[in-house]
Amino acid sequence: MSHLPLLALRQLELTYPSRSGTVHALAAINLTIEAGEFVCIVGPSGCGKTSLLRIIAGIHHATSGEALVEGQAISGPAANRGVVFQQPALYPWLTLAGNIGFGPRMRGVSAQQRGERVNHLLQLVGLHEFGQRAPYELSGGMQQRAAIARVLINEPQIMLMDEPFGALDALTREHMQDELLTIWRATQTTIILITHSVEEAVYLGTRTLVMSARPGRVVADIATPFSRETGVGREIKARPDFIATREIILRQIWQQ
Ligand SMILES: Nc1ncnc2c1ncn2[C@@H]1O[C@H](COP(=O)(O)OP(=O)(O)OP(=O)(O)O)[C@@H](O)[C@H]1O
Ligand SMILES: [Mg+2]
Repeated sequence: MSHLPLLALRQLELTYPSRSGTVHALAAINLTIEAGEFVCIVGPSGCGKTSLLRIIAGIHHATSGEALVEGQAISGPAANRGVVFQQPALYPWLTLAGNIGFGPRMRGVSAQQRGERVNHLLQLVGLHEFGQRAPYELSGGMQQRAAIARVLINEPQIMLMDEPFGALDALTREHMQDELLTIWRATQTTIILITHSVEEAVYLGTRTLVMSARPGRVVADIATPFSRETGVGREIKARPDFIATREIILRQIWQQ
């Protein structure tokens, strides 16, 4: 049997109907993503990044073309393609543990098994002391970590992240980047992350896709030249190959 990539997008097009005519959001997106990759997407505001993520999540349907996970057409949302949005969007009436255990509870996982999984996830995202707190009692960074745990508890094949750290202060954002890399290495979940920060894309991604202005197309696909297996840290951002990759991506964006 021939190899099936984890995610394949073929000639994907998206138009939105609107009062002033149709909006051509995505044009002929062709993309293959293999299991274990960490793919970052950058591109100008309004170019269709969120739309693309919503199609992969199964929240939206493409107007034409194919979106396949392991060769199967995406037909709707699924727990194995979890989404982390810019705002954490936790359920305010549940504790953190209740939020993180929500998916398994809906699927009928027993309270005991759920408790063990929730504790494991709370540890993984560094919130083990906060399971019984309400979301409003926690900082934005902590809420976002809980939102990540709520996705990861479903052991998704793909975690989709739409500017997940955009609302955080610079210092918290750097901490979260390092935590996400640690989580990615520990869980080997495939991650697709949208960001407006080219530096964040190079720091996190094994690969960065640059999208054109609307209608969005993938105009560049740039691999990060250094290994992500070893330690993380700020010193990576001073390396010549880090800076060179960042400049290549910026040039691609400016050429639009
Ligand atoms: N539900 C909708 N109906 C009509 N047009 C829409 C809808 N959602 C998005 N659009 C339009 O489609 C285009 C792409 O939007 P999208 O939100 O995907 O862009 P984006 O790249 O995520 O932008 P940003 O970087 O600002 O988040 C925009 O022009 C937007 O106005
Ligand atoms: Mg967006």
